[in-house]
Amino acid sequence: MSHTILVTGATGTVGSELVLALANRGVTVRAGVHSIIKGDRFSHITSGVQLVEMDFHKPETLHVALTGVERVFMITPFTDDQVAISKQFIDIARQTGVRQLVRLSAAGAEAEPGIQLGRWHRDIEKHLEQSGLAYSILRPSSFMQNFVEQYSESIRHESKFYLPLGEAKVAYIDVRDIAAVAATILTADINQYNGQAYTLTGPAALSGQEVAQAIGQARGQAVGYVDVPEVAARQAMAQLPAWMTDALLELHAISKAGYAADTTPTVQELTGHAPHTIEQFAHDYQRHFQPAS
Ligand SMILES: NC(=O)c1ccc[n+]([C@@H]2O[C@H](COP(=O)([O-])OP(=O)(O)OC[C@H]3O[C@@H](n4cnc5c(N)ncnc54)[C@H](OP(=O)(O)O)[C@@H]3O)[C@@H](O)[C@H]2O)c1
Repeated sequence: MSHTILVTGATGTVGSELVLALANRGVTVRAGVHSIIKGDRFSHITSGVQLVEMDFHKPETLHVALTGVERVFMITPFTDDQVAISKQFIDIARQTGVRQLVRLSAAGAEAEPGIQLGRWHRDIEKHLEQSGLAYSILRPSSFMQNFVEQYSESIRHESKFYLPLGEAKVAYIDVRDIAAVAATILTADINQYNGQAYTLTGPAALSGQEVAQAIGQARGQAVGYVDVPEVAARQAMAQLPAWMTDALLELHAISKAGYAADTTPTVQELTGHAPHTIEQFAHDYQRHFQPAS
């Protein structure tokens, strides 16, 4: 049996960190990329990373990507058919002889009735639990890297970011810590973490002001957090499909109500080191926040 580990969504926020983390451990990684061109980002890794083009909407590509793979880290994109494509992928993984599948879910997926985002994830989790595969589930809180992916433009151009969170605190996690937990599980004995779900958070719950202060300090110029009403946030998302806007606003609403503030010790327990602080994150990513010239 091959010891190849497939990472899906490998060019994404979490996937790209996990490919690096696994390659650094000397493991053979198969990076499942949506388009081979984007896989260029792994060209500096000299050994241990294979690229395979895969499309969740083309099952034949999934069979190819999964052939000869023993373990999988499964990231699926945020699409309106994420439940269907995830279930199909799990079924094909089972058929092709995969032994272990670690799933990237989201904090609060187990809550009932929860929110729509969580219910989609929980539906996928249940399918995995019943698949017969060895599995683990990672349920991370909101990513610190969202401030790079979603808010760095306004930080660079206006020295502000806008969120409908009031004074609420959120236990943001650095995705490098999610990758570290995933790498630990995927390189351990397959039975060690089997059947477990882990809620992963950063070390502290942070208000918008605290995030702004850390980013401002790291880049050497103040940044402001602007609390916006939900209606303004909805307008700012006008270019997104309605299902996505509704789901994101529901997430913001429960965060504003304080439900995203709990921290867990799980990153430290599973990896042996403390999760990144917002100050470390802001320092390491400060080039993304520099004022636009
Ligand atoms: N953001 C958060 O704060 C947060 C918190 C908790 C949980 N999550 C969960 O994290 C997951 C997303 O992870 P992420 O942020 O690392 O993802 P991401 O950065 O959005 O990347 C998605 C990846 O999937 C690939 N992809 C898109 N469509 C595909 C297709 N049809 N077939 C194959 N690959 C495809 C993308 O490649 P291309 O770019 O080339 O299309 C990309 O590599 C979601 O399930 C989300 O619910 C997010």
